[in-house]
Amino acid sequence: MDQDEDTQEVLSDVHVHMTHTVITHTYSDTTNTVAVSRFYLKDKTLNEKGNNVNRLQSAHIEVDDDGDLDVTRKPSEDVVAITIEHALQTKLEDVGKQVWQGCLLLADFIIHNQSDFSNATILDLGAGVGLTSIIAGMFARKVFLTDVGAAILNMAEKNVALNQHLFPHGSSVCVRHLDWQQANPFTPTEDGHSNDTSIYQFKETDQPDLLDVTIMLAAEVIYDLDLTESFFRTILNLMSTSPKTLYISLEKRIVFTTHDLDVASPAYEHFCDCLDELVKRSDDQCAFEYSCIPCDFPQFFNYNRTKELELWKIVSRHGKTDK
Ligand SMILES: C[S@@+](CC[C@H](N)C(=O)[O-])C[C@H]1O[C@@H](n2cnc3c(N)ncnc32)[C@H](O)[C@@H]1O
Repeated sequence: MDQDEDTQEVLSDVHVHMTHTVITHTYSDTTNTVAVSRFYLKDKTLNEKGNNVNRLQSAHIEVDDDGDLDVTRKPSEDVVAITIEHALQTKLEDVGKQVWQGCLLLADFIIHNQSDFSNATILDLGAGVGLTSIIAGMFARKVFLTDVGAAILNMAEKNVALNQHLFPHGSSVCVRHLDWQQANPFTPTEDGHSNDTSIYQFKETDQPDLLDVTIMLAAEVIYDLDLTESFFRTILNLMSTSPKTLYISLEKRIVFTTHDLDVASPAYEHFCDCLDELVKRSDDQCAFEYSCIPCDFPQFFNYNRTKELELWKIVSRHGKTDK
């Protein structure tokens, strides 16, 4: 994440590797200029786990005379195209409108381990414009793509629609508002967000699927100490109710701090403390464990998989547990 000191704008490194087309959209009464990136995935990757490694390539987007996206469903027999609308550079509060490297790392992991995600019900937290949810949706029965605020949820909804043809028959990706800073994230908000996000609130009919969630995803949600606290409170609540596995990707960002007068990674260190705190919350009924997953699985997307990119797994086990 590069931060421009003057404008306080942040820029994801992912965009350096992507060819994109810029288009202008109007949502309700707001005009939005977005970039569109398209990735191609060989069909073989979907069926022959890791044996036939084909990189997803970012490629040129076709726009017709009216400026609408030309969604070429299948450019050739054995290629799948994934189309993502996103912002190129944003203020910190809008980082979810960009695509982040950890999102691509988690997507690689899902593609390589697709049988583990097959037919699952999945909850994606802080999903942003939705690439990870869309990849999960290619294998899962149901994905809840969640984030906060109408602007980002509208972009996610658009991306789900652009990639609808990739989801197996009978499965779906639903866009929902889920705010970690809300005591009960599944009830409608009572703050200023409520009107904007009303169409994305969880519904009564979501309840059976929410009870079925066994896998949770979170890509690049560790960057702010207070938000990390809220995030961990949310996963404690969600994972305490039934056995679940959470995969969380992050980039260990090293910064110079005036407090230490040295380089440090405060967000990462705080994340590690939160992991230890979570394990301490284990009791007779629910035990938490965590581990770091080696990132030696094949790379399907085009990005720079540095050693700072990490993937973690948190598991909640239920029933009589040994503390
Ligand atoms: C760095 S972005 C990552 C987006 C996406 N997962 C990716 O990797 O491309 C962090 C995401 O966390 C979301 N977020 C921030 N605060 C949140 C909150 N209180 N509740 C839910 N999501 C939140 C942001 O809106 C944003 O989409």
